[in-house]
Amino acid sequence: MSLLDNLQWRYATKKYDPSRKVGEEEIKKIVEAARLAPTSSGLQQFRVIVISNQELKEKIVPIAKGQQTVADCSHLLVFAAWDKYTEERIDSIFNRITEERSLPPEQFKNYTDMLKSVYLNQSADENFVHTARQAYIGFALAIAEAAELKIDSTPMEGFDSDQLDELLNLREKGLRSVTILAVGYRDAENDWLVNMKKVRNPSEEFALELK
Ligand SMILES: Cc1cc2nc3c(=O)[nH]c(=O)nc-3n(C[C@H](O)[C@H](O)[C@H](O)COP(=O)(O)O)c2cc1C
Repeated sequence: MSLLDNLQWRYATKKYDPSRKVGEEEIKKIVEAARLAPTSSGLQQFRVIVISNQELKEKIVPIAKGQQTVADCSHLLVFAAWDKYTEERIDSIFNRITEERSLPPEQFKNYTDMLKSVYLNQSADENFVHTARQAYIGFALAIAEAAELKIDSTPMEGFDSDQLDELLNLREKGLRSVTILAVGYRDAENDWLVNMKKVRNPSEEFALELK
């Protein structure tokens, strides 16, 4: 099946079968899709936290507005972005690029100086608006990869990010949660959404063509 067929197949699963677990290899592939996401300046400003521990998932249910999908899914992926830019964070990826491509060490100096002059002059909150956007790119690719593997998923923004950050000690790691993705296998008999038509704006309204 093509990517488009699989995107038609997927839906925001509302009821999971808690007895069915996704294999670790498949979880790795879903995370890998996020790792391969393009990001602004290639900085990979986000990380993915993989949670399979049942007790921990249950602790997140009240933080996620009581959504039971969080407890019933197989794995919960938390997409967390850098809380701010730092000189070290910017240098780190460019040092890796110069090393892995065997380039001269000063190759990207002008570019990284430019990035630092922009981002380090912004507030941490302004930085986070930008880093969080990058997390959404990885989030989208993870959703697509799950669909390609015929694994159900639920993209979720319905949670209290401050509380989740506290529970997972994300701030100590210089991260803030952005979105969460429940993955698992649907409980088709009890999911009200499973047989509903997928509804989107018609393509001629969606794509505005300028000739
Ligand atoms: C960023 C984002 C946040 C979402 N948050 C939630 C959520 O908290 N709970 C939920 O059940 N669905 C959530 N959804 C699912 C959307 O409601 C769903 O994707 C949308 O209605 C389209 O339906 P489909 O995904 O089934 O095609 C979210 C989707 C996205 C992309």
